[in-house]
Amino acid sequence: MHDDFKRFRGTPGYIASGPLVDAVNCAIALERPLLLKGEPGTGKTVLARHVAEGLGMPMLSWHIKSTTKAADGLYVYDTVQRLNDSRFGTGDVADIRHYIRLGPLGRAFAAAERQVLLIDEIDKADLEFPNDLLLELDEMRFSIIETSEEIRAKHRPVVLITSNNEKELPDAFLRRCVFHFIEFPDVPLMRQIVDVHHPNLDAKLLDQVLIKFYWLREQSELRKKPSTSELVDWISALLRSGITQDRLEAHIPFLGTLLKKEQDVDALRGYDERKGKYPARWSDLGPRYDQ
Ligand SMILES: Nc1ncnc2c1ncn2[C@@H]1O[C@H](COP(=O)(O)OP(=O)(O)OP(=O)(O)O)[C@@H](O)[C@H]1O
Ligand SMILES: [Mg+2]
Repeated sequence: MHDDFKRFRGTPGYIASGPLVDAVNCAIALERPLLLKGEPGTGKTVLARHVAEGLGMPMLSWHIKSTTKAADGLYVYDTVQRLNDSRFGTGDVADIRHYIRLGPLGRAFAAAERQVLLIDEIDKADLEFPNDLLLELDEMRFSIIETSEEIRAKHRPVVLITSNNEKELPDAFLRRCVFHFIEFPDVPLMRQIVDVHHPNLDAKLLDQVLIKFYWLREQSELRKKPSTSELVDWISALLRSGITQDRLEAHIPFLGTLLKKEQDVDALRGYDERKGKYPARWSDLGPRYDQ
């Protein structure tokens, strides 16, 4: 592979799988947005910060809500401020430019330096939102109607878009993106991720933690499987409480850090009451987990 293709190589604070690194570099090379999907808590949002760090570029974030409109990302005309200024005699009401506030997309275009732009949770907005973004993302320019000014991007920002799959994205939008689904980390990758957050964890404790965690994820009754961020939290709770490895072998303490639905907590309680046995060795999880 050409060296200039491999612009992003990961960072010490984010463990990226090989395919994820490739997807990021592919999006940079093609100058297309990278659309990221994957279970909640698998590092979609924080990736942007690490891509920015890895490339040495500043980062802008745009967190999408149900009411967000695509045009807000470019700019908003602050009519309320202008009205107040005219009422109270403050500010230069005649100059409309004072009341144009660029949004994250607008700022990414107007910036002198190339930026990393995170458009987080695009599926939260209405269906028109992605379609409304297409033109600006393609052309990398927009006009401010109120001032007749045109803003043209000097550099195409590196755009990362995350989605939790709450809504289907339109085909025309998908066509313009590079797509990557962040697979749930396997055990070796998860060991590295845990090490980023809890360096020098006792090896036996880490084993016990991972055995319980991957077992829990395989329980079919669970409605919401715990994910990476829950595992990191769980280990924090275990470390702070000073729990011993023996106690961890026998049960799963601080369940509230792992399971977030009462039905799931009930399901595990039922398992306890039936005197279900918790795994304590990798071999208890079956051949797939043979280490
Ligand atoms: N590959 C990884 N390397 C390091 N830390 C990770 C990794 N994946 C997840 N994490 C940690 O897990 C936490 C959750 O990550 P993040 O918020 O990016 O998840 P998400 O995929 O955006 O979740 P959601 O869909 O709920 O928004 C972060 O604190 C992050 O540090
Ligand atoms: Mg997120």
